[in-house]
Amino acid sequence: MKKVIVLGGGGFIGGHLAKRLKQDGNYVRICDIKNHEYFDHREICHEFILGDLTDPKTVELVIGEGFDEVYQLAADMGGAGYIFTGQNDANVMHNSALINLNVAKEAVVKKVKKVFYSSSACIYPENNQLDPDNPNCEESSAYPANPDSEYGWEKLFSERLYLAFSRNFKLNVRVARFHNIFGPQGTWRGGKEKAPAAMLRKAAETPDGGEFEVWGDGQQTRSFLFVEECVEAVLSLMESEFVGPVNIGSEEKVTINQLAQMAIDISGKNITIKNIYGEEFIQKYGFKCPTGVRGRNSDNRLFRKELGWEVSAPLAEGMAKTFDWISVVSGAEQPAYV
Ligand code: NAD
Ligand code: GDD
Repeated sequence: MKKVIVLGGGGFIGGHLAKRLKQDGNYVRICDIKNHEYFDHREICHEFILGDLTDPKTVELVIGEGFDEVYQLAADMGGAGYIFTGQNDANVMHNSALINLNVAKEAVVKKVKKVFYSSSACIYPENNQLDPDNPNCEESSAYPANPDSEYGWEKLFSERLYLAFSRNFKLNVRVARFHNIFGPQGTWRGGKEKAPAAMLRKAAETPDGGEFEVWGDGQQTRSFLFVEECVEAVLSLMESEFVGPVNIGSEEKVTINQLAQMAIDISGKNITIKNIYGEEFIQKYGFKCPTGVRGRNSDNRLFRKELGWEVSAPLAEGMAKTFDWISVVSGAEQPAYV
């Protein structure tokens, strides 16, 4: 039995990861600034510490002596509606950088055996993601750096921070770049939700014969990885000798309108997509449409080579499971707009 800490375990991926680590027989401590909204704490950990990891004193307490592994998933983050509007840039950079600065140092002080850091595909240069059909997200393409968001710049800084602690203080680290992870027990409303949850919520809540909004012209591309596959990949990276940074994502690229249509088809309703962007979006919401990069897809060649891991299920399968969950939590079995 290992003793592990999941920072950000009150969140979406951290909650799933902690649950799996506990199921596998490990002793699990979580720290998060909020309780988990959808998991009973007893399901995912032995100890849940409610604390703010931007505070070094809290991090000193949370990363105790004798822990084998720390999984660092705590971050001030959200989907396009949170990180691409520009309105949260200072908080995102300040809060997440402070967490990582505290954690890297304390992990060395407490002689933690291994640290996992969750970086993001948002570190990749904007100029390599202009063609929706042919984005380049190979790990080696990260430099010269040119992320399109401050969120991406903070992630790139923190990757470098953990790698510097690894070189100078022998901190044993693993770094992964997640590509849009989705699934049940994730954020599905409130402004921080990402496209899969947003599309499924809209499909669940829109009455048959209605329409829902999709930001942008819908031709921008992404790939989406189901959360259980993400957890599997994180655990195999931690077991391996490979440090990274390495992509953890799906290579099943879709346009956002295809994603929206998939959500509509799963709902079984007849719903029309209304793309909203440009002046119309600004008039309605008061800020520029947050579309992010034009195209993005995971490139799994490095992970495949180093770890032999493959995504096992198609996007539609994870979307259907997530739809079932969102239908229940949103109460949309009685459509909200009726
Ligand atoms: P999430 O927002 O659900 O989880 C992050 C957790 O960190 C939240 O529960 C939040 O309360 C916690 N947190 C934030 N500030 C804190 C603080 N000061 N002290 C303690 N806890 C704090 O997000 P997620 O989707 O589970 O993402 C987990 C990690 O993976 C994040 O680092 C994120 O940047 C990274 N990531 C996620 C995706 C994705 O698609 N979900 C993609 C790329 C990278
Ligand atoms: N969130 C959201 N909500 N996005 C929408 C919506 C909607 O209702 N309608 C259309 N979109 C479009 C966005 O404008 C964007 O072009 C695309 O769908 C994907 O949006 P998100 O899923 O919110 O984010 P992302 O893929 O651009 O970035 C996410 O993935 C990164 C890793 O790949 C974010 O979660 C980042 O935090 C993460 O690091």
